[in-house]
Amino acid sequence: MDSIIVTGNGPLAGQVPIAGAKNACLTLMPATLLSEEPLTLTNAPRLSDIATMTALLQSLGAEVTSMQGGQVLAMSSHALDNHVADYEIVRKMRASNLVLGPLLARLGHAVVSLPGGCAIGARPMDLHIAALEALGAEIELKEGYLHAVARGGLKGAVHEMRFASVGATENAMMAATLAKGTTVLKNVAREPEIVDLATCLRRMGAQIEGDGSSEIIIEGVDRLHGATHPVVTDRIELGTYMLAPAICGGEVECLGGRADLLGAFCERLDSAGITVSETEKGLKVSRRNGRVSAVDVTTEPFPGFPTDLQAQMMALMCTAEGTSVLQEKIFENRFMHAPELIRMGADIEVQGGTARVRGVERLKGAPVMATDLRASVSLILAGLAAEGETIVNRVYHLDRGYERVEEKLSALGARIERVSGQ
Ligand code: EPZ
Repeated sequence: MDSIIVTGNGPLAGQVPIAGAKNACLTLMPATLLSEEPLTLTNAPRLSDIATMTALLQSLGAEVTSMQGGQVLAMSSHALDNHVADYEIVRKMRASNLVLGPLLARLGHAVVSLPGGCAIGARPMDLHIAALEALGAEIELKEGYLHAVARGGLKGAVHEMRFASVGATENAMMAATLAKGTTVLKNVAREPEIVDLATCLRRMGAQIEGDGSSEIIIEGVDRLHGATHPVVTDRIELGTYMLAPAICGGEVECLGGRADLLGAFCERLDSAGITVSETEKGLKVSRRNGRVSAVDVTTEPFPGFPTDLQAQMMALMCTAEGTSVLQEKIFENRFMHAPELIRMGADIEVQGGTARVRGVERLKGAPVMATDLRASVSLILAGLAAEGETIVNRVYHLDRGYERVEEKLSALGARIERVSGQ
């Protein structure tokens, strides 16, 4: 297993290109199952999760060709010959469950393994099941697999979600595009990835409106045609790289960055003493004073503070002036980076979903363990600002969501290298 060695090396400077969004691409790829015609995605990120989704779609009989070094994905599901998403793939990546809605809509049946829990929480699928049952699906759990059938096809319905689940919204949207009649989905997720999926589906001929708000209305159509769609910028990679000059000092321009993708994140940065300015190429970020100020953070569905940036923000707060209270409201166990940051000298007290962080002048480098995708990169950020050397182990977590992280950070002046494991 590879490790990454980071040595604190002072302020950063330069430009960093922001890739296409992993969490948009992982729902755009299954959308190919909705049509017999080709769907091509451009600006796709080069990540191991994309490779996993590629393997899953190919196991269903779809063709997926990666071009231009992975930035273009040419897909076609003209002839699907399998409707089972196997546990071996789904357990590796929960987003595999996003084939459920499209398979149901296209074939009228699907068998998808329950993903099982993961490091950050139980992550059940009850909201996905409730939404698809509202559209007429019959879903039964048998030996760890969801067996879903839509006798006579899916039918439009009005359905209110108990919670604005991103994945359940995506599964329901994709299923509803081919349902008979009108579907009204209430209390849905409003994330930019939802808007990106709706934009792509409209390009394929779907009739969808209200995406980005809490209520989406979909007029079912008989079939969808092919399209080409650019994956939206990754707001989580963007937020992560914005925190690099915040924690190290200096000034960094994030190419392709857009403030409208970030919700409450920018306001929190401003309150902490970080200046974000829009340029023609993206967002320029710098620290106003020598040390950031502690601010409180509560994670919420978009446009609230993103849970996927909580770990990275905690790393920043470890070196802030004052005490910060971070509340994780989306997942039940998303503070696993805290014990690793404490090994680096951070002063953090975790109680349930609340972490109290008292800022220290300087963190100290140490060997630390990555536990999940966003925790991994928070340790890299901490290492950038720490005194001495930090070795982050198990970086396969990192490769799921960040392309070429050591190259991108080295180009900004960071001292960082990857060491291949045995
Ligand atoms: C998406 O996961 C993202 N993944 C996650 O990013 C992100 O953290 C999450 O949305 C929240 O923004 C992708 O888009 C591939 P949810 P998803 O359904 O759809 C509970 C990353 O680091 N829930 O909005 O699985 C669930 O347990 C990843 O890139 C149910 O109870 O998230 C969680 O506590 C991590 N029942 C909460 O809702 C359900 O049926 C939010 O989950 C579904 C979810």
